[in-house]
Amino acid sequence: MRITQLKLKNWRNFKSVDVSLKDRIFIIGPNASGKSNFLDVFRFLRDVAKPSGGGLQEAVAKRGGMPKLRCLAARQDTEITIEVTLQNGEEKPWIYTLSYKAEPRGFRRTLISKEKVRFGKKLLVSRPDEKDKEDDERLTQTYLEQINANVEFREIAKYFQSTTYLHIVPQLLKYGDQIGGFTIEDDPFGQGFLDVVAKTVKKTRDARLKKIAQALQKTVPQLKELKFDRDNATGRPHLEARCDHWRLKAGWQREDLFSDGTLRLIGFLWSLLEGNSLLLLEEPELSLHEEIVRNIPYMIYGIHKQRKTRRQILISTHSEALLSGKSIDGHEVLRLKPSPEGTTIIGLSYEEEIMLKSGLSPAEVLMPETKPPDLTQLELF
Ligand SMILES: Nc1ncnc2c1ncn2[C@@H]1O[C@H](COP(=O)(O)OP(=O)(O)OP(=O)(O)O)[C@@H](O)[C@H]1O
Ligand SMILES: [Mg+2]
Repeated sequence: MRITQLKLKNWRNFKSVDVSLKDRIFIIGPNASGKSNFLDVFRFLRDVAKPSGGGLQEAVAKRGGMPKLRCLAARQDTEITIEVTLQNGEEKPWIYTLSYKAEPRGFRRTLISKEKVRFGKKLLVSRPDEKDKEDDERLTQTYLEQINANVEFREIAKYFQSTTYLHIVPQLLKYGDQIGGFTIEDDPFGQGFLDVVAKTVKKTRDARLKKIAQALQKTVPQLKELKFDRDNATGRPHLEARCDHWRLKAGWQREDLFSDGTLRLIGFLWSLLEGNSLLLLEEPELSLHEEIVRNIPYMIYGIHKQRKTRRQILISTHSEALLSGKSIDGHEVLRLKPSPEGTTIIGLSYEEEIMLKSGLSPAEVLMPETKPPDLTQLELF
């Protein structure tokens, strides 16, 4: 399954969006242009579709309620709409549409104003339906979140549920013990990464660690082998890396000695090897040398080559190095441009198409556009 198209209305700083999505997408734009907000659309759908503790009300509340979610640039129109087109191979496309707004009076509940599910030409759901008209309390819940109501489109509910968002903060992973047990739901910062590795069947786990060690060969050449281990005394899971070392026997290091960049790469490569659903990745360039960042698209390619199915991957980035490869197609880059009327996604101009075709990289052609205007030198005082 793939998400091939996304339409948004009044979602956070996007007043109106209509974009097609490739299997690999790089989202670029200045700070606060909405890259994370764009990724949050898919986390939101995951939260709505979640089998336990999920649902529309919870997903909206978790984000601070409708006033925080609805685009500030929206004037009369108070409705938020998300429309996603999904495609499984050559099958007919699915289209899932959800619109909702705050009740104008009373409890100001978040109510669904439209929920539609289409499979090819067939309309499977069209709400509000007759039952909704009899009892408007029903409009507080999507059919997507109800197992009794989503039977005919369970496939897409499951796809939304299994979306992964990854923004590994190495310190949280390394010093989990000292920080204490609190982990944010769905673990976006990778605190529970070692537990995920621990829960994976040994054969799969060993095979993945071997592939990751291979993929890392070029970037961290001193790292020769990766293995999983459990501390005998505490039972805590650990990763160990065998490194080139002048004292051969002392060559195994635990994750707390890994560099931040190595840990982020391991988490990222693991997620590429795990599952077939949508992968949302925030700024993979952090803590990494530019030359390594330049190689990330090749690492993704290398891992994908070894798998029958590939994960669709949406990456937010500020890195010119990441987009400097000739293998990246300009249509794989979404360029965000903020304005007082909301952020828009700007497509390729005719000139830009020509420049890309003539061999310039997306970093050279598209990145300069995302630099904040009038930023010369920040004054010191
Ligand atoms: N409902 C809303 N309406 C308008 N703007 C909003 C809304 N919700 C959030 N924003 C704005 O979105 C911006 C933050 O967007 P986001 O975090 O997605 O940026 P980003 O591109 O990921 O930035 P960075 O590169 O710093 O990570 C903030 O300026 C915030 O004010
Ligand atoms: Mg961000």
